[in-house]
Amino acid sequence: MDRYAVLGHPIKHSLSPQIHAAFARQTGEQLEYEAIELPVTSFETRVWQMFRDGFKGFNVTVPFKKDAHDFADDLTERAKRAGAVNTLLQQEDGRILGDTTDGAGLVYDLEDQLNWQITDRNILILGAGGAVRGILEPLLERKPAQVVLANRTLANAEKITDDFPEIAPCSFEELTGRFDIIINGTSASLSGHLPPLPEGLVTPETCCYDMMYGKGETAFNKWAREQGAKACADGLGMLVGQAAVSFEIWRGVKPEPGAVLDELRANLKS
Ligand SMILES: NC(=O)c1ccc[n+]([C@@H]2O[C@H](COP(=O)([O-])OP(=O)(O)OC[C@H]3O[C@@H](n4cnc5c(N)ncnc54)[C@H](OP(=O)(O)O)[C@@H]3O)[C@@H](O)[C@H]2O)c1
Repeated sequence: MDRYAVLGHPIKHSLSPQIHAAFARQTGEQLEYEAIELPVTSFETRVWQMFRDGFKGFNVTVPFKKDAHDFADDLTERAKRAGAVNTLLQQEDGRILGDTTDGAGLVYDLEDQLNWQITDRNILILGAGGAVRGILEPLLERKPAQVVLANRTLANAEKITDDFPEIAPCSFEELTGRFDIIINGTSASLSGHLPPLPEGLVTPETCCYDMMYGKGETAFNKWAREQGAKACADGLGMLVGQAAVSFEIWRGVKPEPGAVLDELRANLKS
């Protein structure tokens, strides 16, 4: 049986084993997928050992996405530009390929699941961390009208423009305008907080997306609903979408994420 795993620290609450088991059932692929917590300081040696032990590939999550980027022999263009890797694959010649599928997962969720148009739309992104770096390339590929990126620390937003000169960086204090799509990529929701957002960003046509997900409504989505947003969604669909792209990279078979997303959403609610 081919073996895969998600590597992180901590990792025990990861939904990835459940998602990949569902994809394997759906596609008839024979594989094992587990969650493995690595000590924060020994990524490279542990991953080499696991590849030697026969693992075929890995998903990589916090705090190892940069380590995975540096570990890979070959990088896809989107992984190079993001400076982060969430998918590792041992190729036939033994070299390790690094890719990032988070952004493809987000675009899948926005366009295919939620039916939100990206092309020609005004997009506001909140946050300038690793997750935001990973979504920029696939979003920009869809040719939005503009992408404004607001962050608590302005210097971190400005640094992103070194790699993505197309975006307009600003602080929360400077933020103005009205947007078609607002994506929260800060980690504020993890602690139930909301970035300090000014009034007037949301119109009755604005769709709001929190990359975080959980049992209940996130702080950002509660704010968006109260501001009168047209629609709100959390990041569960992005999680399933990125997993589907990783699965296809490893197995050459494309799973259908919709059914797995419904199953997961029902489980989370119960
Ligand atoms: N759905 C998915 O599949 C998926 C995948 C990846 C990540 N995510 C989610 O994406 C979010 C960000 O993850 P990450 O890996 O990018 O984290 P990260 O690299 O640690 O970046 C955190 C970002 O949030 C900002 N921030 C933190 N606390 C804040 C607060 N109280 N108010 C305003 N801004 C705050 C930081 O601003 P400074 O620059 O000022 O520090 C930074 O821009 C998390 O909620 C994570 O769960 C979801």
